[in-house]
Amino acid sequence: MNKKQSLEVHLDDRSYPIYIGYNLGSDISTTVANLLNEGRKGAVLIDEKLAQAQPNFSQEITRSIPQLVIPSGEGSKSVHQLSVAWDFLASAKIDRSGFLLAVGGGVVGDLAGFAAASFLRGISFYQIPTTLLAMVDSSVGGKTGINLDAGKNLVGSFHQPSCVWADLALLETLPEREFSAGMSEVIKYGMLADQALFQSLQDRETPIRPGDAGLADMVERCCSIKARVVQDDEKESNEGKGGRALLNLGHTFGHAIEKVAGFGSYLHGEAVAIGLVCALRLSKHLGMCQSFSEDQLLSLLQSYHLPSSLKEPLPVKDLKIAMGSDKKVDRGKLRFVVMEEIGSAYCSTDPTEEQINQVWKSVGAT
Ligand SMILES: NC(=O)c1ccc[n+]([C@@H]2O[C@H](COP(=O)([O-])OP(=O)(O)OC[C@H]3O[C@@H](n4cnc5c(N)ncnc54)[C@H](O)[C@@H]3O)[C@@H](O)[C@H]2O)c1
Repeated sequence: MNKKQSLEVHLDDRSYPIYIGYNLGSDISTTVANLLNEGRKGAVLIDEKLAQAQPNFSQEITRSIPQLVIPSGEGSKSVHQLSVAWDFLASAKIDRSGFLLAVGGGVVGDLAGFAAASFLRGISFYQIPTTLLAMVDSSVGGKTGINLDAGKNLVGSFHQPSCVWADLALLETLPEREFSAGMSEVIKYGMLADQALFQSLQDRETPIRPGDAGLADMVERCCSIKARVVQDDEKESNEGKGGRALLNLGHTFGHAIEKVAGFGSYLHGEAVAIGLVCALRLSKHLGMCQSFSEDQLLSLLQSYHLPSSLKEPLPVKDLKIAMGSDKKVDRGKLRFVVMEEIGSAYCSTDPTEEQINQVWKSVGAT
């Protein structure tokens, strides 16, 4: 299995291809060799667990260029780890023509992307996502950044990669829980922009798994939705229909859960899964999305062992404070992504305090 699919993110001089397929190591290695032959210096930031799980892949693609292993986990999206990365780039003598490979999930992608955006005021970087979540979401679109104690992704910048390689063979070693967490972003795409995708997930006799036929098409479909939205609104400045903020369906709630429960107690995708339930219930409170039954979402989440309510009650008060520090706050007002219908979403500042309280309580907050 080495067929490769590709699509393009069209952003003028920041356009780039996304390649999706199996066993892309030699393609990546050839590109790296070409860059080095042009006299450019390269460096790699690689996730620790991925490096251990896929030693042949990391050796094949990174060749002799300096490599910094990033400890696995959300804690690495930190000021400390960023400064370690900057020092590493400086010691590798990366100049303005240099390039950085980001090999890992969303954590390494976000961290490496921001290191590349800020080092020498910006060098090229290449995304090599190794989790499902990173393949369908975080590696595409150029959002990079780190967390602060005050909240997730509060420091960062838009910096588009030069290319994305999603090698699906790498998913074979991804823990099942992480694969499922990525599926919550896939389900999100179906809910906000692609009814047929949502339907195809529902129609499957068994949940999709690494190596399954249909995986490459599913990843491509998600990437093309993301590419389309990013092309329309690269820097999330359009609040109307089609704006990039729509990709945050379920995330205003999900980020609050991650923060109040403590980073690490829920995987990002797990918190988003509960957030999707909240977003759907909020949409229904606003009188929308009536023909879409909540059971359809709940059973899909269940088939991937994704949560639809909190595992331990969290205080509504704290969750609302956390939502208030989210980036989705604009001029003091919280914007929620709500669904008109399955496959169609928009941003709203309409929800009342009472509606938000009710939604939180419906997923087990107190
Ligand atoms: N930039 C964006 O647009 C964007 C979008 C969505 C999410 N994100 C960010 O992405 C992050 C979450 O990303 P994630 O879910 O990929 O988590 P992650 O990067 O923490 O990876 C999940 C786990 O899988 C391990 N791993 C990675 N690839 C592996 C492989 N092939 N085999 C075995 N183990 C492997 C990692 O070591 C880690 O333990 C969050 O910080 C979130 O904020 C960013």
